[in-house]
This record gives sequence, structure tokens and C-alpha cells, in this order.
Amino acid sequence: MRNVHRRHRAARRALGLVALPFLAATGAAPAAAERPQNCLAPGADCTLAEAAHQSGIFVGAAVGNELPDLEIAGVLAHFNAMTTENAFKWGSLSSQEGVYDFGAADRLVDFARRNQLRLRAHTLVWHRDGFLGTPQYVRDAVAKAEDPAARLRELMRQHIETVVARYRGRVDLYDVVNEPLSLFTSGFDTEPAFGFAANVFFETLGVEYIDLAFRWTHAVDPRAKLFLNEIVWDPHLGDPKADAFLALASELVARGVPIDGVGIQTHGQLSLTSPFFPSDSESFAEYMRAFAALGLRLEITELDVPLPLLAGASDPLAAQAEVYRRVVRACATASNCSAVTTWNVHDGRTWLDFVWPTSILAPNEPLLLDASLRPKPAYFATRDALLERCEPPSELPGPTRVAWTLLRRLGAACSRAYPRPFPPPWRP
Ligand code: XIL
Repeated sequence: MRNVHRRHRAARRALGLVALPFLAATGAAPAAAERPQNCLAPGADCTLAEAAHQSGIFVGAAVGNELPDLEIAGVLAHFNAMTTENAFKWGSLSSQEGVYDFGAADRLVDFARRNQLRLRAHTLVWHRDGFLGTPQYVRDAVAKAEDPAARLRELMRQHIETVVARYRGRVDLYDVVNEPLSLFTSGFDTEPAFGFAANVFFETLGVEYIDLAFRWTHAVDPRAKLFLNEIVWDPHLGDPKADAFLALASELVARGVPIDGVGIQTHGQLSLTSPFFPSDSESFAEYMRAFAALGLRLEITELDVPLPLLAGASDPLAAQAEVYRRVVRACATASNCSAVTTWNVHDGRTWLDFVWPTSILAPNEPLLLDASLRPKPAYFATRDALLERCEPPSELPGPTRVAWTLLRRLGAACSRAYPRPFPPPWRP
């Protein structure tokens, strides 16, 4: 019962905050300047952003090119990080060699900086043309070139240097390479599959295309954190694609490539095999820790859980909340997991409503906020799961556990690995 009251209060409070963000977006005092409350204090009623701050885990959302008002309001009231949904994709930025339109990217970078949101720029190199990943001129140039490898290296290098130099010091983190592996197998896309062309970067340069992209990005902005992002349907040790991704990351580290971490997209519901991804938190957390052993951070980068797939449950919204809880709990228990990002801000605009096959099921309502920015059960499950990072480590002896718990109740940061002030600068 108490929980229900807390939830209603949080929902009211979150809605009340909706007006503030408009001020922030138009240049008045940023909403994030408000001092966050201690989410562990009795009677506390935290927003997701406050729980994110306290747990030391960034919580972000993917924001569209047009930066609609409702997304501005949602992000500022509930999140402390954001990802550019499309604005940094090569195919969004440039339709002709050497010609760039930075309008949307500039808008999103300015918005993030003005409001002290951690900014993930997605993505510099992605072989999928249909999804704005790679413009057609890249493929055409490579096809016509006498020395395709040299030509592609030239195009990639120019692209990376142009974009990263423009935003040097203003982007916290890049998804340098997106989805290097095939969707449903553990190799690279050497043939067209599922309506997408083969991976022109891999075909032309081999796996070295990944190394080059990271090295060139790092050379231009050595302070930006660099991530390799991948869709892993079933992230646990022993799953072929999950293992292949871990092996790929491990090879990059062994070759001295400047990589800080990996992103796991999730989007598990699109998988043919594991629609209720992941089946448990502990095996996912164990998979995360395998990256910690390589010195890498891990972030959940594109989370969404479509409601229609849970229609068989007696309470689909509660079932959706449980999927979110499983994923976020895994992150809270693995200390190298530093962020969770939902793919879009609210149920009123989700890519799943436009992309086949989930478009057939629209409305998918896969996110934490409904189309009016009201927090859903999944919102509270996510918030509570984040705060599980505040639980004392199981190895602590009795009296130390009590002291630990007390300190956290007084507001000490929960994360042992990455305590950060609020708003969190991404400069650990
Ligand atoms: C999607 C966007 O959400 C859509 O708006 C766009 O039309 C296609 O791309 N994995 C990724 C993201 O890494 O870039 C994709 O984003 C979703 C799947």
C-alpha cells in the first residue's frame, strides 16, 4: 500500500516537473541544478534521474533529430543522459562526399550541454545503409575505386575526423562502431541478409576497420569515451553471439585499440529465440563482469520492451516492468555497468511502431513513460532496480554492513566503482 502511495506521489512530482524543462530548454536555469533527494531516506520519492545519480548509473534515452517538446520535457524530468537516435549516423549527416549538414547534431549537442546531460553520440561507423548507417556514395566510391581498401580508409578517416573534430570536448562518448556482427549469427555480414547489404567495411578492410575507427576517433578527441555497440539477443556466456562479441572485444583490447567499453543494445524482443530477454539477471550480470575482466565498461544502450508481446500475461504492464527490472538489476549488480538507455523517450514515439515486424503490433508502448509522460510500472521497477546498487556487498561482515547501510541512507553514493557528483561529469 505504502508503495502505491509512493508511486502516485512520484508520478505527480514527475509530471509537475514537466513545466520546468521547457524553461531549461529555452535557456533558463537547468532542471538538473535542483539538488537531488536521498532516494534511500524514509519516505523518499525519487525520480529516475535522482535514482540514477544516487546509484552512479546513468539513465538515458534516445532523442530524435527534431528534438520535439515532449522529448525535451521527458528527458529533462526523468533522465540524466541521452543518446542521439539518428543525428550522428553517417547517412544522416552526409549524402555526398564532403557535404555535411550538422543541423540536427548541433541541436542535440547544444541541448545536452546546456542541460548537463551525459551525451552519447551514436554512431560513427555502421554498415547498415537502410537505417541511415552508411550513405550510398560510400558504397559507390568503393565499387568504382582501383584500390577499394585505400579509398574506404580515406572516406572513413575523413568522416571521423570531420565529425569528431567539430564536437571535440562536447560529446562525452561515441558508439564508434555499431553492430559489427551479423544479426542472427556470430560472424560478420559477408552477404546481404534480412534486407540489408553486406558489411562493406568488413568486406573491404577486414576486422581492422574497427581498429582504425577507434584509433582515428581517439586521435582527434582523446578524452571522449569510445564504445563498441552490438545487438546481443541473449547476453549470457555460452550463447554463440554473446561469446563472439566478447571475443571480438577481447581481441581489440589485446591489440591495444583505445576502447573504453561495450554497449549491449538489447532490443531482445526482436529476437527469434529469446523474446523475453534476458531470461535472468544473474547470467547477464556474469556476462557483464566478463567485460570488466578485460578492463571494459558495459552499458545497456537501446532498451525497449513492447507490450503486445506480453499480452498473454495477466497484467502486461507488470510483466513489462519485470523485464525492465531483470535487465536493470543485472546492471546494478555488475560494477562495470555504467548506464542504461531506453530507445526513445516515451510511448508516443518509438521506432518499433515504424519498423517491420513490430510495426504490425503498433502501438508497442515499450518505454518507461506513456505518451503523456506519465511514469509506468516499468519506470518504478527501473528506479528501484537501480537502487539495488546501494545494497551492501554480500562479503561485508555484520557491523560493517550496518555502517554501510546507514551511510547510504544518509546519502552516500551507492556505487563503489564509480561515485560521481550530480550532475555527473563523464570524467572519472
Ligand atoms: C533506428 C532509429 O530508431 C530509427 O529512427 C531509424 O529509422 C533506424 O534506426 N539499432 C541501432 C539504432 O543501433 O541505430 C537503430 O535506430 C535501432 C536498432
